Amino acid sequence: MISLLSHLSYVAITAPDVEASVEFYKNEVGLTEVARKDGSVYLRCWGDYYAYSVVVAPGDEPTLQTMAWRTTSPEALEEAVRRIEEAGVEGEWFDGYQIGRAYRFTGPFGHSMTLHWDVVRHRSEPHVASIYPDRPEKRSKIAGAPRQLDHVTIAASDVDGFAKWYNEVLGFRIMARTVLDQAPISVFSVLTTNEKSHDLGVVLDGSTRPGRINHYAFWVDTHEELLIAADTLMERDIPIEYGPSIHGIGEQTFLYYREPSSMRIELNTGGYRNYVPDWQPNTWKPSLGSSNLYRNGAMPMSMTESFPAADGPTATEEGVPTELQDALLNPYTQHG
Ligand SMILES: [Fe+2]
Repeated sequence: MISLLSHLSYVAITAPDVEASVEFYKNEVGLTEVARKDGSVYLRCWGDYYAYSVVVAPGDEPTLQTMAWRTTSPEALEEAVRRIEEAGVEGEWFDGYQIGRAYRFTGPFGHSMTLHWDVVRHRSEPHVASIYPDRPEKRSKIAGAPRQLDHVTIAASDVDGFAKWYNEVLGFRIMARTVLDQAPISVFSVLTTNEKSHDLGVVLDGSTRPGRINHYAFWVDTHEELLIAADTLMERDIPIEYGPSIHGIGEQTFLYYREPSSMRIELNTGGYRNYVPDWQPNTWKPSLGSSNLYRNGAMPMSMTESFPAADGPTATEEGVPTELQDALLNPYTQHG
């Protein structure tokens, strides 16, 4: 298959209080507001090459409205759509804000994905124009402000099934998976369209609600910046949910915190680059350090919350053996 997709271009989320979320993204995360349209607010990181990378739209709950990938060419967009429809999924073409003709579909596990080739490249205002030709804007003065959008991690009821569909239909490389120590249950997998360990992650969803998101992530250039961001968050009374630490899978340094809607966001840096076109994904166990490279700390239970909140019975209530319930709810812990 020719390479169809190049990278994650933007994530659109909903928030009950758009203004509160936008203020947080501007003042605490370090994003810049670039536009407002139909109640949605468009934001960008200082190093994003296109017009925007985050959209905050009004909604009753925090949700993933859509996740967007740029294709590798106009022809790749047509081919991707052909393959999606051949797989029995029907989407629709629309004219997207600053992305031209785009195609949006809902994947087999309920997640909206947008594909586009056209973009509007960011042109900064003169007072924030970088002195460096390749930099879209001056580096932010906010401590730990991310350079770019990095990845999105969704929740799906069948981790391997999700990975298989996006691999076979759209060419995402499957880079790794985590299977519980206690039982052959896949709880996590990472996929990528480029040299990063992942620009799409999937965690096991025990709820009956389709299309949920676990978190999305920004990139900072260095470990030092991530640690300064952590320090700054603490000083500003913004709880850090998990980290800073290093994931075994991907080897990125990470920290997680929440924005006002309760949506989880992550800062990432470091990690390996992998260009192997026929990479064979390895299977990790939590005890190998899939989430925590140092194997010395359990992930907080709150990290299993995805968005919007589950409203149906969870998998653990549907007959998963008692001894597996904790492992299923907290698949990244190392006990077992
Ligand atoms: Fe992540």
